Amino acid sequence: MTDLFAEQIPFMKPWLGDEEADAIRDVVKSGWICTGPKVAQFEGELSALVGAKHGVATNAATSALHLALQVNGLQQGDEVILPSFTCMANANAVIIAGGVPRFADIERDTYNLEPRSVEERITEKTRAIMMVDQIGLPANLDAFKALAKKHNLILVEDAATALGSKYKETFVGGHGVTACYSFHPRKLITTGEGGMMMTGDAAFADRARVLRSAGASISDLKRHQAKGALFQEYAESGYNYRMTDMQAAMGLVQLAKFDAIVGQRAEQARLYDDLLAAVDEIAPPYVPSYATHAYTSYCVRVRPSARVGADDIVRRMADRNVSCRRGIQPLHCEPYFQHTMNGLVLPETELAAKETLFLPIFPGLTDGQQRAVIEALKRSVIP
Ligand SMILES: Cc1ncc(COP(=O)(O)O)c(C=O)c1O
Repeated sequence: MTDLFAEQIPFMKPWLGDEEADAIRDVVKSGWICTGPKVAQFEGELSALVGAKHGVATNAATSALHLALQVNGLQQGDEVILPSFTCMANANAVIIAGGVPRFADIERDTYNLEPRSVEERITEKTRAIMMVDQIGLPANLDAFKALAKKHNLILVEDAATALGSKYKETFVGGHGVTACYSFHPRKLITTGEGGMMMTGDAAFADRARVLRSAGASISDLKRHQAKGALFQEYAESGYNYRMTDMQAAMGLVQLAKFDAIVGQRAEQARLYDDLLAAVDEIAPPYVPSYATHAYTSYCVRVRPSARVGADDIVRRMADRNVSCRRGIQPLHCEPYFQHTMNGLVLPETELAAKETLFLPIFPGLTDGQQRAVIEALKRSVIP
């Protein structure tokens, strides 16, 4: 009899092959390895795909989020409301932009910001809401648009994990709100590291391009394409948040796989959903009617009736050669925020952190592997 658990099942694996390696090799041989024609092409193709007017590629989503806050007008000392149930990058972007993070609670079923919890925290110091489409599931964009309008606030969308997901039939990033993707290997498509700020506002995109490249008014590509000599000037100080053409070439190859990646993840999620019907202790992800989930992560919840906790399940799965991850660690409980959060309690966030875990999901994960994951899970939830 074959041993179901003999093979290590990884938590994630980017879909990379000779195509990516060849594309990078071609860029290296071209001699143009910094931000140039491939970055421009990647920005154009991804914007067209998701229906965004403009895309500005960066070296990470964190820097794209920083630029998004800055071009939307965030000022030193402005408060930004965001979820605590997210990664440190969100808070980092706020702090780098000069803002002060204020955490709100999440919805129990979607793990995304709860609009009432956000509204309760709005004060005269609040200047922005950073909504996060967590683990590939869009947050309720219309609710946050309405809140931002009512209180005259900036709205920035962290779509780092949500490329490929849709809010009301339109891809996140394509709604005109400034939204940022990540291309870290755990995301839908990868460039190794990388990000992109999508926006419907041409002035925001122009300023973000200037800021990402030291504040220079003219890019290398523009200077190269000009017939005569062009000289840049600096109207404000900027950063080095540039993506390289090697990364963009890889991103373009990944984009050619976009439909296949989205399709595979949706099928894998469907199979997990079906198989989990036989596991009373575990709840599959919830998808509200307004959303199409990208399943960048497949997040399950340990039901209160279970007698084994999520962390123990992750350990037991590892013993059975299945690599899982625990749920997101709430930011307001991290040492960095402990002395400024004044005993902040976010019940849904804290509960979700305790009760959730992520199962393996990635292009190429086979039906057989998925069945082995659920078999391991069945055995791991028994005390
Ligand atoms: C929700 C979310 N936002 C932002 C980021 C930051 O992305 P990057 O690593 O590209 O800066 C991540 C990365 O894991 C993330 O999960």
